Amino acid sequence: MAINVNLNDSALADSVAVKTAAARTLLARIAGEYAPAVFANSLGAEDMLLTDLIVGDGLPIEIFSLDTGRLPLETYDLIAEVKKHYGLALTLYYPQHTLIEAYTRQHGINAFYESVELRKACCHARKVEPLQRALAGRKAWITGMRAQQSATRDGLPQQVFDEANGLEKFNPLADWTEKEVWFYIKQKGVPYNALHDRFYPSIGCAPCTRAVTPGEDVRAGRWWWENPESKECGLHVKRA
Ligand code: ADX
Ligand code: SF4
Repeated sequence: MAINVNLNDSALADSVAVKTAAARTLLARIAGEYAPAVFANSLGAEDMLLTDLIVGDGLPIEIFSLDTGRLPLETYDLIAEVKKHYGLALTLYYPQHTLIEAYTRQHGINAFYESVELRKACCHARKVEPLQRALAGRKAWITGMRAQQSATRDGLPQQVFDEANGLEKFNPLADWTEKEVWFYIKQKGVPYNALHDRFYPSIGCAPCTRAVTPGEDVRAGRWWWENPESKECGLHVKRA
């Protein structure tokens, strides 16, 4: 959620300044050495920070979002706010209607609650297949993932070859803490999803995201009915 940060905390300000400089250097290197590179923006807090850096530095990195068709209203509002604030129209990718029609006809409109398999099949049609089109012909893609977000992201590298998608993958915020992210957002006045102020630290599709209680894991509200180990949607596949 939008955690309270003390903007007068000089130790925090220093660590954010150091990490911001490193992230800007990395983003500039990606733009120079891995063109064409793209940034996958889910409109979450981390991704808004990266948007601010990419737009602020005028880097030639296309920014896209996967509109699954089931996003919360607040996320659509933020897409409109990004246009107003930065003059940036995010490139939107949509699922193929034939896949969604077949899924809902065969399994039902909310079948993702019934099993991990049906949930993953929905994520595949609504996110993974559109992601593959978004990444086609690119040399690198960028995400806003952090190592501390969940058990499945522990040890997350800043750079890795994404074998599943066949291109380089960068996670410039891999070593950032949640507090550092919110310090940057509050200090720079970066727009963010209204749901973050309503106890939603991590935001995905509306039917698969709920608020967390204080002390709960940041991703506890995502696919909350599943075990923590299965909570990845297929966008970020780890190969052994
Ligand atoms: S995930 O489980 O949905 O993949 P999370 O919401 O934590 O996880 O997002 C991790 C990263 O995946 C984001 O920082 C972003 O780069 C990418 N991502 C997730 N959802 C989307 C989306 N709808 N559109 C674009 N990128 C996305
Ligand atoms: Fe479907 Fe939920 Fe995955 Fe969104 S998060 S694509 S609604 S299963």
